[in-house]
Amino acid sequence: AMRVVRTIADLRALLKPLREQGQRIGFVPTMGFLHEGHGALIRQSAARCDATVVSIFVNPNQFGPGEDLASYPRDLERDQSLCLETGASVLFLPEVAEIYPTGFQTHVEPGSLAEPLCGKFRPGHFRGVATVVAKLFNIVQPDLAFFGQKDYQQAVVIRRMVRDLNLPVDVVVVPTVREADGLALSSRNTYLDPAGRKRALALSEGLLAAREAFEGGERRTAKLIELAKAPLAKVDKVQYLELVDAQTLEPLKGVVNRTVALCVAAYVGDTRLIDNVILAPS
Ligand code: PAJ
Repeated sequence: AMRVVRTIADLRALLKPLREQGQRIGFVPTMGFLHEGHGALIRQSAARCDATVVSIFVNPNQFGPGEDLASYPRDLERDQSLCLETGASVLFLPEVAEIYPTGFQTHVEPGSLAEPLCGKFRPGHFRGVATVVAKLFNIVQPDLAFFGQKDYQQAVVIRRMVRDLNLPVDVVVVPTVREADGLALSSRNTYLDPAGRKRALALSEGLLAAREAFEGGERRTAKLIELAKAPLAKVDKVQYLELVDAQTLEPLKGVVNRTVALCVAAYVGDTRLIDNVILAPS
């Protein structure tokens, strides 16, 4: 059975005895409209922990003006079924006022890792993410927390925050779950009509072509970027396409001589999509 709780007090009351029994608590923070990408995180938590807490909270603090906060998709019934099927034991559904009561004014400010890539186009986004994730970590106090590689920069920023603030949580990054044709699962894919869905394939098509070339021995950054770029003629606007050091997120030139992330953000109509692949020289 899965418990559904809406307040911090109820969640703490529920988790306290589990923790006292020595149970290992896993945590999967989400914004809902769940799909098998979230499902993979929950399954991994359920496999590695005694209890898995999933939160659904559309965090207003990580959306910029003109972004999709008001229209962010919701389907609580479907989310509950997916959580139950994938092995969640607790579903935490806080209201905005529970997380940000009147007078709230303290934030977590990430450093330079939040500046490139998405950070350049979404000012304040990672500050909002880091703040809510720090709060959720303090509310849930998990042993392990699970994040998707799909949001690679987010995972790197969170990892850094955990180290910098000595948060007693192990961060696990789970590989990106894709549709059979390569499209990375995303709650925002629901905004795409059939024609847009086809054009959205350009992101994964390019990244996977670059990854294939890399696996075949291609190490020139310019060539890898060119391969990833070719299909992007189909999208409406490429926000960035960058090959960066997987740890520092600094752009890499010349030849790939360390683990890198090839990251893309692009618009299909009004829908902003991101994707990435990690390339590790053996
Ligand atoms: P959300 O976009 O709902 O994603 C929740 C988690 O699911 C993130 O760690 C994300 O990387 C992961 N995820 C999404 N699509 C995935 C896919 N195709 N494969 C694998 N994992 C995937 O990311 C957020 O919410 C928020 O920023 C949050 C961390 C909850 C803070 O508000």
